[in-house]
Amino acid sequence: MRKLINGNGIDLGVCYYPEHWDKSLWAEDLGRMQAAGLKTVRIAEFAWNLVEPTEGEFSYGFFDAFLDLAQEKGMQVIFCTPTATPPAWLTDRYPEVLNADREGNLIHHGSRRHYNYNSPVYQDFCRRIVEKSAAHYGQHPAIVGWQLDNEFNCENSEFYSESDTRAFRIFLQEKYGTLDALNKAWGTVFWNQAYTDWNQVHLPRKTNTGSVNPHLQLDYYRFISHSVCRFAKQQADIIRKYCKEGDFITTNGIFGNIDYLRLQRESLDMLMYDSYPNFAYCLDGYRETDLMKDRRWSRNLAEVRAVSRNFGIMEQQSGANGWNTRMEAPTPRPGQLTLWTFQSIAHGADFISYFRWRTCTFGTEMYWHGILDYSGRENRRLREVTDVSHKVNAIQEAAGSAYSAKVGILKDYDNIWDCQVDNWHRRVDGVSQEALFTALQIAHVPFDYIYIEDGTDPESICKYEVLFYPHASILTEGKMRLLEQYVSGGGKLVMGCRTGYKDESGKCVMERLPGLAANLTGTDVEEYSFVAPDDGRVMAEWDGEEIEAAVFNDLLAPVGEGAEVLAVYTGSYYAGAPALVRNRFGKGEAYYFGGAFAPGTAEAFVRKLGIGEPYKETMEIPSGCELAVREKDGVQYFFVLNYGKEPGKILLNTGLPELLSGEVCEGAHILEPYGVRVFVKGKSQS
Ligand code: GAL
Repeated sequence: MRKLINGNGIDLGVCYYPEHWDKSLWAEDLGRMQAAGLKTVRIAEFAWNLVEPTEGEFSYGFFDAFLDLAQEKGMQVIFCTPTATPPAWLTDRYPEVLNADREGNLIHHGSRRHYNYNSPVYQDFCRRIVEKSAAHYGQHPAIVGWQLDNEFNCENSEFYSESDTRAFRIFLQEKYGTLDALNKAWGTVFWNQAYTDWNQVHLPRKTNTGSVNPHLQLDYYRFISHSVCRFAKQQADIIRKYCKEGDFITTNGIFGNIDYLRLQRESLDMLMYDSYPNFAYCLDGYRETDLMKDRRWSRNLAEVRAVSRNFGIMEQQSGANGWNTRMEAPTPRPGQLTLWTFQSIAHGADFISYFRWRTCTFGTEMYWHGILDYSGRENRRLREVTDVSHKVNAIQEAAGSAYSAKVGILKDYDNIWDCQVDNWHRRVDGVSQEALFTALQIAHVPFDYIYIEDGTDPESICKYEVLFYPHASILTEGKMRLLEQYVSGGGKLVMGCRTGYKDESGKCVMERLPGLAANLTGTDVEEYSFVAPDDGRVMAEWDGEEIEAAVFNDLLAPVGEGAEVLAVYTGSYYAGAPALVRNRFGKGEAYYFGGAFAPGTAEAFVRKLGIGEPYKETMEIPSGCELAVREKDGVQYFFVLNYGKEPGKILLNTGLPELLSGEVCEGAHILEPYGVRVFVKGKSQS
């Protein structure tokens, strides 16, 4: 992987829209950015018309002027392909480039992301403008990187145009070869859905019951991901022909129906994320009872890290949210902008670019505030950004260090997309993912998400002491081999109910459950049921402790010598049936739990597996603060982040240098509301 930005620093930047402002403001804006410590601007992601104002006529004067000025001022630029917003002249003349809704109605010009990935006409237009821009700017000294499009699949991750229908058939022909194979994979004998001609196969459409063949639907999500990845690669391949050695290619955001491992492998040097923790404070979505609130963005950052170990933030929140139609949220409080910047860095970001420099005075996003308000006057947020840049300078030695975790949560796209198709799967997974994240956060356990594929290198998961793979309904032989290698080598694997009951097509298997996982878990699922509403919460007893077996219950039996029952149900008609089996397998252990992991249950697993508070000998931290650890060359950087309005008291059990203050701290230490500290351990003091 290429290095981020300049290689060895943690850098700040900002999103800028030269086309929104009078040119007379550019020089002043760039100068003020630099004074605030912002070194990089991202530009041009929605500016197709400025480069190709009418079909086939290209003009680069506008961006030439901006880029030359940026170079003169010593600013670096990330240049974007403009394909998220095809111009009116294009969509008007070639309506086939538009996306359509499920009923086939076209999604019109007037907002953004109104195109589809599969229109050959649109692909041609995109290839041409990317080729022209890459040829024109590939060697420009101010440019350090390229962003593909803007937020693939944001706002809408489903596509129903005629081009998509045609491409779907080709995708299926390549996957299945024959209609017979497709009919078998999709179980079309059920309800007489069998196809006798490829032209009978459609994208999911309105049906009488609202339900579409689930196996078709699963392949549809795979198809969308395939379409995005192919579209991105068409652009990346062109840019690579022209860009300078060392310039990076990225894209921003994490959205639905995209296999980001493939996207990164085929097209990106690293992924960037758009982090808006203020969504936690939107007026209509706010929940006082949500323990995590803006801290929940750490979950998203862990998702980005699963794709790119060190990554960037292309858009970091710097002002209030708000479209004129939705997403009303207050301005970040003093300190929150700093907190959220360091939240990103703590999780592995080495580049943070704020969204946006000035707040736009017009359009849908005129309430989506940037650093500056409409007037551009000096303000509190600019002062805070300037202060952040000094703080970031104080932690430069941590650049290139990687987030360090000994606990992981395994994921894979088959199961993520199966959750979208299958309510039963979604219910258990939703509960467990939320509870595991929260339990690990509160017990200060740094963790990674790890996306596995059939070809995943076992080495990449063997470094984790404990892995949760909560509800892997779809299992494959390849993934099982990986898990068996992990456990037999000494790892601890925890699986939950509904594991292993589906094949890759999403069809239920006829083997005894948990199917392919039976041998590894030493478990036989003799019977299973949703938790009946009139049973309330069904509990299980584990070493004298009552834990909830939420949502769904597999009734278990241990199989083989290594298997033992650790917990039994205490409620419903199955009281006394095993609820948790541990199987010794090689040097490690596999746990099979019959329910979903409710909050208290997730906490019990963290405690009983001995993974909570892994750094308590070094520091004790209240549950309202997050601990993230980055590591490089044996040196650990402890990021402590206080998300609360109240001060947080930590206890340092050993004297540690703190990089932001430059002081050595020991004993009781108070973090002010939204306070951030970066302690260093393991560096020889000179
Ligand atoms: C992002 C997007 C930006 C801007 C921002 C605020 O999703 O990339 O272009 O729209 O959100 O809404």
